[in-house]
Amino acid sequence: MKYRIMEQTRPGGLVEQVYREVLAPAFPAEELESESGVTETLEAGLGSLLVAVDEAGRPAGAAFGRWSEASRVQLLAYLAVKPGTRGHGLGGRLLRDAIEAWRERYDPCAIVAEVESPDAPTVHEAYGDPRRRLAFYEAAGARVLDLPYFQPGIGSPSRRVRGMLLLVLHADPSFTQGRPDRLSGRPLRTFMEAYLESAEGARPTDWDARTLFEAIDREGGIPMGRTATQH
Ligand SMILES: CC(C)(COP(=O)(O)OP(=O)(O)OC[C@H]1O[C@@H](n2cnc3c(N)ncnc32)[C@H](O)[C@@H]1OP(=O)(O)O)[C@@H](O)C(=O)NCCC(=O)NCCS
Repeated sequence: MKYRIMEQTRPGGLVEQVYREVLAPAFPAEELESESGVTETLEAGLGSLLVAVDEAGRPAGAAFGRWSEASRVQLLAYLAVKPGTRGHGLGGRLLRDAIEAWRERYDPCAIVAEVESPDAPTVHEAYGDPRRRLAFYEAAGARVLDLPYFQPGIGSPSRRVRGMLLLVLHADPSFTQGRPDRLSGRPLRTFMEAYLESAEGARPTDWDARTLFEAIDREGGIPMGRTATQH
């Protein structure tokens, strides 16, 4: 089967179908924002949806990214390929195309992604194997930031998702402080503050958030590297 990858930066088009057929079945509810959230990001001109469509025009996979102008950090919010199509290179192609498109358009400080840690106590086997998923990203050159990361709660801090990793998919060399194993905390702090505030409705001051910000702010930058998850 041949797939064509198209990008959409405005609402409408394939959004509803991609949300229903590709994203909703691939993510646990607490990790997936509402379809209207995706549409609002596109309406605001901050979203990019790459869709892989088959010869009949049906979506088989998608990548959705959200731009933060204040921090110049791009978040790969969701990447998914329909179960029957996985393992044939489509996810890798979508990831490469997304990074290339976003680097060209935004010239970002960094492109980041959230994934479940393979060590997290509550992994969702039904949504894919977290170990293989991390291996997938590392094969594409992703590095794991050494942070006590959690995914902001969609709508409330009580809905935070623990046991997540924040990955760096691309970092501009000016933000690695001359050391490829360290990321400057400055853009990431601005990014996380805005992300937490917009997801949870207020800027948090609780212990978990403070611990995360202390780790982001540490002297010398945030260590980043590969995990032992190799196959
Ligand atoms: C992760 C994902 C996008 C990869 O897409 P893909 O088209 O299968 O990827 P490719 O064919 O390019 O690469 C194959 C690699 O993907 C990973 N992969 C394949 N199927 C997977 C699954 N069910 N669960 C987790 N990772 C998987 C493996 O690392 C695999 O390599 P391996 O076969 O040597 O183990 C896809 O598995 C998926 O949609 N998973 C569910 C949603 C998700 O976890 N998204 C990522 C978090 S944002």
